[in-house]
Amino acid sequence: MMIKLNLPLKPDTDKLFEYLNGINDRQWYTNFGPLHQELTYALEQQLQVENLLLVTNATLGLQIAAAVLGLKHVITTPFSFVATTAAMAWRNVGFTFADIDSQTLNLDPEKAAAALHQVPEADAVLATHVYGNPCDLESFAELTASQGKKLLYDAAHGFGVTVKGKSLLSFGDASVVSFHATKVFSTIEGGAIIFKRKSDYDRAKRMISFGMDANGEIHDLGINAKMGEYHAAVGLCNLSQIETVLEHRRECFAHYQKLLVPRVKLPLWHPDAILNGAYMPVIFESSEDRIKCEKVLTSRNIGHRRYFSPSLDTLYPSVHSRNRLDNSHRIASRVLCLPMHAYLTQSDVSQVCHSITEALP
Ligand SMILES: Cc1ncc(COP(=O)(O)O)c(C=O)c1O
Repeated sequence: MMIKLNLPLKPDTDKLFEYLNGINDRQWYTNFGPLHQELTYALEQQLQVENLLLVTNATLGLQIAAAVLGLKHVITTPFSFVATTAAMAWRNVGFTFADIDSQTLNLDPEKAAAALHQVPEADAVLATHVYGNPCDLESFAELTASQGKKLLYDAAHGFGVTVKGKSLLSFGDASVVSFHATKVFSTIEGGAIIFKRKSDYDRAKRMISFGMDANGEIHDLGINAKMGEYHAAVGLCNLSQIETVLEHRRECFAHYQKLLVPRVKLPLWHPDAILNGAYMPVIFESSEDRIKCEKVLTSRNIGHRRYFSPSLDTLYPSVHSRNRLDNSHRIASRVLCLPMHAYLTQSDVSQVCHSITEALP
């Protein structure tokens, strides 16, 4: 039997049909409809955040946030999903890579500081909370505030993570979370930007609707990135099961940790965070060990993925990287994500771990 790497959340179909019938009755399908408003409010309550703007996906969310914050050039991480830098490239925002911390796998604040020093035109830091593991929030806040730079977080993986009781999505000038079907919480396609300032939220809300305000007056160069009512309906259904989902993922995560360590290394998780079990990344001692494990997992129909690989700098040969990115390259060649989703069983986890033990006796 196949153990899938990921399985999207299934919305309760009875509830979903109720929502869909309501949408059809109103014939209000998009343009900030009632379910869009209901989901916005429910998410702000759930996450205890303000200024949350639903968007069609996190990739566009990153572009909108960059536009509203006026970013021209960011110092960023090479160890992230391709969308992090692709979103900047689409807006002609320049980027310079700085290396990651070899333990946390997040952008290293000291390396980011050095890169800011080297690149005077850089006006922001764009850091990813890799696998939902919070970055060094205090160091980045201090670094950017002291130099008058902006701070944007790619928090695509961060739904449900808290740091000292505060949502991970509430840090920086803006944070962008993904609600893609593969994520902890999903609207199938979707995402949200959480802004620190209400004025940025207001501008972004116009920007995702062609730059128009509620009266149809155009204020800005806009685009269309509005979430529609059907997606909001899926979000409302999935939100009602989120506590159970998070608890289940955390249990699987704990079971994996118990069975895997010390055979493989895990990232160093933030000491003050309650994580969300979004991913189960493992780091092998060598790329040869990773390949051995991949072979065994494939032969047993166990899903796995080299996430993230390659190190993003290799995709942009024309972007001059003044910095050595050894940690990112090393980790990208040794990391593997193992099955993790809301329907994974403890016995699945044991089977995956058993296979790794056999591959690396
Ligand atoms: C780190 C990171 N950033 C951005 C994205 C893009 O998210 P979306 O699919 O919602 O555009 C992803 C998607 O997996 C991601 O992993």
